[in-house]
Amino acid sequence: MCGIVGYIGNKEAFPIIINGLKRLEYRGYDSAGIALVQNGIVQYKKQGKVADLEQFSCTKNTSGSIGIGHTRWATHGEPNDVNAHPHTSMHGKFTIIHNGIIENYSSLCRQLAERGAYKCASETDTEILANLIEYVYEKEHVSAEKAVRIALSQVEGAYGLLVLCADEPDKIIAARNGSPLVIGVGNGEYFLASDATPIVEYTNRIIYLNDKEIAVISKHELSLKTLFNDTLTPIIQELDLDIECIEKAGFDHFMQKEIFEQPKSITDTFRGRASKNPPEIYLGGLYNVMDKLDKADRIIVVACGTSWHAGLVGEYAIEELARIPVEVEYASEFRYRNPIIRANDVVIAISQSGETADTLAAVRLAKNAGATVIGVCNVVGSSITRETDAGVYTHAGPEIGVASTKAFTAQVTVLTMMALFLGKRRKELATERYEELITELYNVPALIEEILLDNEKYLHVARLYKDAPNSIYLGRGILFPVALEGALKMKEISYIHAEGYPAAEMKHGPIALIDENMPVIIIATKDKSYDKVVSNIQEVKARKGKVIAVVSKGDTVIAQLADHVFEVPECDSFIAPLTTVVPLQLLSYHVAVLRACNVDQPRNLAKSVTVE
Ligand code: M6R
Repeated sequence: MCGIVGYIGNKEAFPIIINGLKRLEYRGYDSAGIALVQNGIVQYKKQGKVADLEQFSCTKNTSGSIGIGHTRWATHGEPNDVNAHPHTSMHGKFTIIHNGIIENYSSLCRQLAERGAYKCASETDTEILANLIEYVYEKEHVSAEKAVRIALSQVEGAYGLLVLCADEPDKIIAARNGSPLVIGVGNGEYFLASDATPIVEYTNRIIYLNDKEIAVISKHELSLKTLFNDTLTPIIQELDLDIECIEKAGFDHFMQKEIFEQPKSITDTFRGRASKNPPEIYLGGLYNVMDKLDKADRIIVVACGTSWHAGLVGEYAIEELARIPVEVEYASEFRYRNPIIRANDVVIAISQSGETADTLAAVRLAKNAGATVIGVCNVVGSSITRETDAGVYTHAGPEIGVASTKAFTAQVTVLTMMALFLGKRRKELATERYEELITELYNVPALIEEILLDNEKYLHVARLYKDAPNSIYLGRGILFPVALEGALKMKEISYIHAEGYPAAEMKHGPIALIDENMPVIIIATKDKSYDKVVSNIQEVKARKGKVIAVVSKGDTVIAQLADHVFEVPECDSFIAPLTTVVPLQLLSYHVAVLRACNVDQPRNLAKSVTVE
């Protein structure tokens, strides 16, 4: 939430920062701003997209080789020019950009008001922080760095922060607590950003700032400390990320590209972990917690949104194949309800970004309670990966579209591999079945290639239903979470109200909604519940609902009943979540495009939810 970018070096900072903000726009996109060190510090801010800021600034003086920029996802104060970052302190000494939330901002505001005539122009929590730093600086007569450290010691909440000081214009001060911040190291230049995507085209040498760390950066020097003033040695890591991965590569939208990338991202996720000959699973990332996993009485999955849906798929697979009880929790609920966590529990935290505030808090809670915590994350080096005891990366590559697609299938791939791996170790899974499922997993990329060939069909159905105000998604067993995921995709990018339900639950309420205007999307592939799902379709048709069914290829029974069918190649039911979700992703994508919605940056959302 909120993207921040900084540059200090010998090049023009403006294009680097604007370009970087565009790459980070998936984190927030209601307003944007930039501050540049010239003869003094100038700043330009604009409600709207980064392109609006760029347009607004093009007639202004944008020179300068030191600058900071921000793209906002509003928490405090509506999106407008005034609330856009950067914010400058009242006497003009400090200009800051901030990602996170200053939780005690009202008490800080009160204290500042009592101490002097500090007034804020905006409604943001960030401006208070700029004023607090300035207050400390002026009152204590300390350096800018020390003023930032003292001010931050009074702050409760999360921040990734970049600070410019008018009296020390040759440096950028960066600090982090809870919101990510990375520093790219170039030759006589440094790049700062919320994640590595704005940096990768300039350097692959990266320093990840940890919580409660502060960096003071000039063109030729970087000093790193804790907020308690202990000097640290910066650790430079090599970044493994290609620029092509963060471009649209000829697709109209990132979401579309990411849907079509799934054969590759799934292959990348099982590469080196699933072998075909002989069929075997190796999850090296789990080896150092193997004794805990062997003894685990229970697995608790914590996650949010799409990752939570992947966790539900994992629940079905792990319980059935490895016979370990699994509970899947919304991280936001788990962290606040005093959950019972035992030392023999293994907690799996699933997160594409690895930065989701609630999931990270759930990880910390579980660790403090003595549980073993495993991360299933996509972003390498993200906070969750650094705080968990072990982990398995989903090698989906950067996911830029706010609506998660390839991350979901990569997460499900990892969880399916875990279920197989644990099933074998616990001797719950016959060798034949284990090998059969690994072979099926290997076929998934080819099956998805086949499903993607039907793109025109998804577009055709999207045209027919794009104006429906509501929709219902139904699935049973391991395909119920796919129904939830299909509904989430539809609502988040097309703003059509969509509900996901277990198909059998329909009779307990949602059936009342069905009439001739209600599209009902039913996942009805051949598995042990098939006959029951066919009955559910008949119940919908009896009430004149419109049925769009995802069926196994060649199904003639449902083809007779449903208004439209999306065929997917037949596969094992444990593999079906990976195939059946694809038509639902594309259906939502086309509906959203036809409704002229901003597919990659849906309203009110942000890719990485680093506030609770
Ligand atoms: O980065 P995470 O996987 O932790 O994110 C969790 C959710 O915020 C995310 O899945 C969200 O629901 C997506 N917009 C879904 O498409």
